[in-house]
Amino acid sequence: MKLILLGAPGSGKGTLAEIIGRRCHIPTISTGNILRAAMKDGSPVGLRAREYVDGGKLVPDEIIIGIVRERLAGDDCKAGYILDGMPRTIPQAEALERAGIEIDLALSLAMPDEAIVKRMAGRRVCRDCGASYHIVNIPPKAEGVCDKCGGALSARGDDAPEIIRERLAVYHKETEPLEDFYRKRGRLRTVDGQRTLEETTRAVTEALGL
Ligand code: AP5
Ligand code: MG
Repeated sequence: MKLILLGAPGSGKGTLAEIIGRRCHIPTISTGNILRAAMKDGSPVGLRAREYVDGGKLVPDEIIIGIVRERLAGDDCKAGYILDGMPRTIPQAEALERAGIEIDLALSLAMPDEAIVKRMAGRRVCRDCGASYHIVNIPPKAEGVCDKCGGALSARGDDAPEIIRERLAVYHKETEPLEDFYRKRGRLRTVDGQRTLEETTRAVTEALGL
């Protein structure tokens, strides 16, 4: 299965990718996680990406396309994968097609901006492994501590309210048109991202026929 998770910042792409990936035994390729790891390492890609990520802007297409092309060549991607946060622009989607990649489904998680801003205030991520939690909806077992690796949890730098507004504006302008792109190809399914994680997971697994 080759699945794209579309949806605004905070709509739950990363959380669902982990659940579906575990169930289907396929890897998730999250460009956001790859960029944050590169920024933490201070690699050349990380150094170039930082100003965009911190400001809530999109990293230039050529950087993203290079990262994803390299990652999809990995042996673990042969049986399928989940793309979380890529493509995010029409040129990125066209680059996938040019590379001969046929997507089974683009699943869009729908959620109004106000609900997103509210939800993002409660997100906490692990500084070590990147696992994501929510202080009310999906809390860790011990406050401030990652269930998976014991790392410290904190808010993501780009989750400041003014940066979230910028990310939402960028989403509506650059990424939302991808819904039409995949609708025209008969590949789009939309699921309500506002419901509880259990309900959303059920809707997504039904949409995927799992
Ligand atoms: P990225 O990391 O992809 O961020 P994003 O798309 O803005 O999405 P988020 O990771 O913020 O949210 P999510 O949808 O994964 O939600 P989550 O599951 O965490 O990108 C970051 C930056 O990198 C971009 O701004 C850009 O600069 C750059 N970048 C990345 N990819 C790029 C690309 N292709 N091109 C150019 N630039 C790129 O959930 C959110 C919260 O809600 C969590 O607290 C979670 O626990 C909780 N939650 C999840 N589901 C539910 C539910 N059903 N009910 C209640 N709470 C829930
Ligand atoms: Mg994410």
